[in-house]
Amino acid sequence: MKNTQVTLDKRPDGKPKASDFAVVTSDVPTLNPGEALIENLYVSLDAGFRNWMDEGSGDNVLPAMPLGKPVMGLILGKIIESKNPAYNEGALIMARLAWEQFSILTADDWHVVLEDDGEHPLSYHLGVLGDTGMSAYFGLNDIGKPQPGETVLVSASGGAVGSIAGQIAKLKGARTIGFAGNDDKCRRLETELGYDVGVNYQDENVADRLAEVAPNGIDVYFDNVGGPLLEVVLDQINEGARIPFCGAVATYGDQAATPGPSNLFQIVSKWATLQGFMTHTKLDRYPEAREQLSAWLKSGDIRAIEHMYEGVENCGVAFADLFAGQNFGKTVVKV
Ligand SMILES: NC(=O)c1ccc[n+]([C@@H]2O[C@H](COP(=O)([O-])OP(=O)(O)OC[C@H]3O[C@@H](n4cnc5c(N)ncnc54)[C@H](OP(=O)(O)O)[C@@H]3O)[C@@H](O)[C@H]2O)c1
Repeated sequence: MKNTQVTLDKRPDGKPKASDFAVVTSDVPTLNPGEALIENLYVSLDAGFRNWMDEGSGDNVLPAMPLGKPVMGLILGKIIESKNPAYNEGALIMARLAWEQFSILTADDWHVVLEDDGEHPLSYHLGVLGDTGMSAYFGLNDIGKPQPGETVLVSASGGAVGSIAGQIAKLKGARTIGFAGNDDKCRRLETELGYDVGVNYQDENVADRLAEVAPNGIDVYFDNVGGPLLEVVLDQINEGARIPFCGAVATYGDQAATPGPSNLFQIVSKWATLQGFMTHTKLDRYPEAREQLSAWLKSGDIRAIEHMYEGVENCGVAFADLFAGQNFGKTVVKV
């Protein structure tokens, strides 16, 4: 059997481009004892993986990705052959493997065996019922804690995490404002995701526009992007504001050290909380989150929007599109 793979051909200079990746064909490797062969069905495109594409970028979370090797990413796949009694053939897994048709799973690879009840499309396990949906759930419930009538602002609000965070905040009775990079996405925030207002952070004077649409200030800022927007928002937070700091996509490609917001003292003077979190370390809480998110989907209280590509060879294109803000909803490639 042949394996189509997408490798890291060049280290991206800032935002990734499709030409940073190469499509290659190799033989499907044979299994060693303890391993399983996975047929990948869907690949999840996650902005955070940009962090490990630079030379020397390895840290205590993940190693730097080597050049010429399949790009590391989250997949949803099926075990089609196993030389490990813990892995049953036919089982579905979500795992940190690679942009390729077939992968080898070892015990060291981060993975979750999925109990699929057939109630939702399989790919949802990479989005609303996976890492990004749960990031929205944990970030809002554990850190943001929106109260009825409060104002919740979300950055990258039409993306995988933001699209769910905004809807959960709305369910909690908050007023929701979303940042997005163009007018069409802002319109979709309001018509498809229930945001009260979409703010185009590329075209508008963000400070003026925020003062206009959130005259009583920001109580919760669910931040997916960091960078200059965080500084603008800090000036408009209320006393006791909570900032779940989910990610910093605005700075992932930075070659120089990213400067911090010049007005960080706002956290002190406003008795505010800015707290980070890493969803994949909370595996014990996945069932609770999945159960709630699934119930909301079934009741129609939230909806999942997917930005789907076909063909594993398009992973590089899809990843570049993510950083160009071309996506709306969760970006997934159907292998
Ligand atoms: N903490 C965790 O455990 C965890 C887990 C999953 C994801 N995350 C993080 O959550 C964030 C969102 O991830 P996602 O998968 O949901 O991505 P996404 O929102 O689906 O896609 C990224 C979006 O970011 C926006 N963006 C790109 N460059 C930007 C910039 N310079 N300034 C402002 N916005 C920019 C773009 O939309 P617009 O420009 O149109 O707004 C783009 O569509 C990422 O930072 C990711 O690393 C964290």
